[in-house]
Amino acid sequence: ESGTYFRYCKEFSSTIARERDVFHYGTFPTDFKWSVSTSAYQIEGGWNADGKGESIWDRFSHTPNKIANNETGDVACDSYHKVAEDVSLVKMLGVQQYRFSISWSRIFPNGNTSNLNQAGVDYYNAMIDSLISAGVEPVVTLYHWDLPQALEDNGGLLNDVIVELFNDYANFCFKTFGNRVKFWITFNEPYVVTWLGYGIGVFAPGVYSPADAPYIAAHNIIRAHAKAYRTYEKLYKGTQGGRVGMTMSTEWAEPKGQSAVEVDYEATDRVMQFFLGWYMHPIFVNGDYPDVMKEYVAQRSAAQGEVTSRLPSFTQSEKNLILGSADFFGLNHYTTNLAFETFSPDRINDVSYYEDREASTEQDFTWPAAASSWLKEVPWGIRRLLSWIKKEFNNPPILITENGISEEGTSQELNDWWRKEYFHGYINEVLKAIKLDDVNVIGYTAWSFMDNFEWAEGYSERFGMHWVNFTDPERPRFRKQSVDCYMEIMERSFP
Ligand code: NOJ
Repeated sequence: ESGTYFRYCKEFSSTIARERDVFHYGTFPTDFKWSVSTSAYQIEGGWNADGKGESIWDRFSHTPNKIANNETGDVACDSYHKVAEDVSLVKMLGVQQYRFSISWSRIFPNGNTSNLNQAGVDYYNAMIDSLISAGVEPVVTLYHWDLPQALEDNGGLLNDVIVELFNDYANFCFKTFGNRVKFWITFNEPYVVTWLGYGIGVFAPGVYSPADAPYIAAHNIIRAHAKAYRTYEKLYKGTQGGRVGMTMSTEWAEPKGQSAVEVDYEATDRVMQFFLGWYMHPIFVNGDYPDVMKEYVAQRSAAQGEVTSRLPSFTQSEKNLILGSADFFGLNHYTTNLAFETFSPDRINDVSYYEDREASTEQDFTWPAAASSWLKEVPWGIRRLLSWIKKEFNNPPILITENGISEEGTSQELNDWWRKEYFHGYINEVLKAIKLDDVNVIGYTAWSFMDNFEWAEGYSERFGMHWVNFTDPERPRFRKQSVDCYMEIMERSFP
């Protein structure tokens, strides 16, 4: 028995592969949500305006040589000063939802709920109210990577006081905005936070500690998520009737060797479990980490002469809190990798599985490329991923919270045909997943509403459907042709 992936792959090969390249015609469910997304640090600017506290991304981008061209999100798209303009552009799209994030340190400058910055609350109230009057539902992410620096100074996600602190912050947001916000995402892409932020340190807060920090940070994120979920369930669900979930980054993994090489299936299963099962197995399957993670992280410790696993464990009462703590599965998806087995037991001294994982995936050179090095256009991957999630995690409602493609920052092209092609390809595969594979996909969100600060890449990659002029102090937005394409897809999607 080489894991669930093995079984499903064989199935996929016989059923899904047949329809891979053929367009499916049809409509989406009538209550399907179309949406576009952004995040606070990437668009807001106003990094220290009106009492906002410093976040770890402010600190990180102000540190030389961390970001391409030493760029920062100090001004970004200046959305802090452009509520009316942004909302009117969102409204023009005709989407049902707009996904954005709240900057924790804009509301609580030190992260602690005892010190409130009313200007921050006013900003998000204005944003939410304008969206509602434009007929657009707000979808709000509580944590899109910009931890208050004051909390990082106290250990950040590695200190388990974060569980209480996050819960207090979430509770405040539910209480203050929850009469109008019906979709909450606790954490965006915990894999990126834990591995890039605390493992290899290429993202804020820039901690390099691959052997254990990611596991500790992840453990706290899962506990903080579950606690906030239970707070909502207990205090607000009955009156507000909203839904709470977490959003995952997931690249689909396809076995490189196909049916000929069974070890590749096993490697592929490990990639998926370490990437996605790490967070979602506790929440949707049994309150605990996937077996393959327990095995691998423990094996490696044992080989180093340690007695215990580097993977922390949950208490029984934590498991009870965690299991079932999501009303939907938030999915960010962009690309696919081929996975294969590269390491032998004598590589067991490696400090982290991820170093192996990175050595054991690659992309095909014939797949269309984007400006981002990791991103190739592989539309069929999303359909396989959606089916895998359905089977692995007991058929949860899936909200696609991001999907999109990038071009070079220097591009001034408004005819972004690559984005039109990408949307057509991926959205059609989502349709197949709904119609042919019975996956419960409840909505699709394009990343991004407009060009913005692409983390360590600064402004050198553009993901937007609106082109933003970052050299003009007014930061004007111009519509790219993918807007028309997306609007047409949305218009035709309903019967
Ligand atoms: C996922 C992240 O959530 C978002 O912030 C980022 O810009 C996109 N991926 C593109 O890399």
